[in-house]
Amino acid sequence: MRNVTLEAVFLHPITQRYLKRSGVAHAIAVAEHAFVLAEQYHVNPDHATKAALLHDVGHYTWYREGKWDYDMYRKNDIHAIKGASRAHKLLIRIGEDRQVAKEIAVAILLHTDSYLPTGELQLKPLQQVVHLADEADEESGGNHHYRRIDDKVALERVRLLDKKIEQWLRMNGMKHII
Ligand SMILES: [Fe+2]
Ligand SMILES: [Fe+2]
Repeated sequence: MRNVTLEAVFLHPITQRYLKRSGVAHAIAVAEHAFVLAEQYHVNPDHATKAALLHDVGHYTWYREGKWDYDMYRKNDIHAIKGASRAHKLLIRIGEDRQVAKEIAVAILLHTDSYLPTGELQLKPLQQVVHLADEADEESGGNHHYRRIDDKVALERVRLLDKKIEQWLRMNGMKHII
C-alpha cells in the first residue's frame, strides 16, 4: 500500500485550486500518458503519475485585458519552479515519503526547459517521463490548458489510475521505490 493515493493528491483543495487554473483535463491526460511511459522507462508509476498530475500547479495567470498574454508569459514565467515547491509542500503535508516528494518536485522543476539552457541537462528517467507525458498532451496555442472535463469523469479517471498503480505495485513489489 502507498502512503498517499493519486486520488488524495487530486482531491486536496490546493491541487483543486491550482489545477483549475492550468487545466484539470490536461493534468489528468498527462498523468495517463505518464503511467504508460513509466512502464517503458522502468519508472515507478506511482511517482510518475503524481508528478504528472501536479506538473503545472505552479502556473500564474498572465492575463492582460481579459486575454492571455503570451509575450508576458514567455518573459516572466517560472511555473516549473513555483510548481515544484508547491507540489513538494502539498505532498509532505499529506504524508508522502520525503525522498519520493523530493524526486517528484525535481521532476516538476525540470518538466519544461523554457528557462533552462537547452541540451545541457541529462534528465533522469522519471524526469524524462514527466517531460514526454506533458509534450504528448500539448496542443498549439496552449489550448491544452483550456480543455474542459466533467468533475465526475475526472475523479473516475484518477481512481482508475490508482487501481492500475496498485496492481502494478502488487506485481512489481516496492523494488522501484524511487
Ligand atoms: Fe508546464
Ligand atoms: Fe503541461
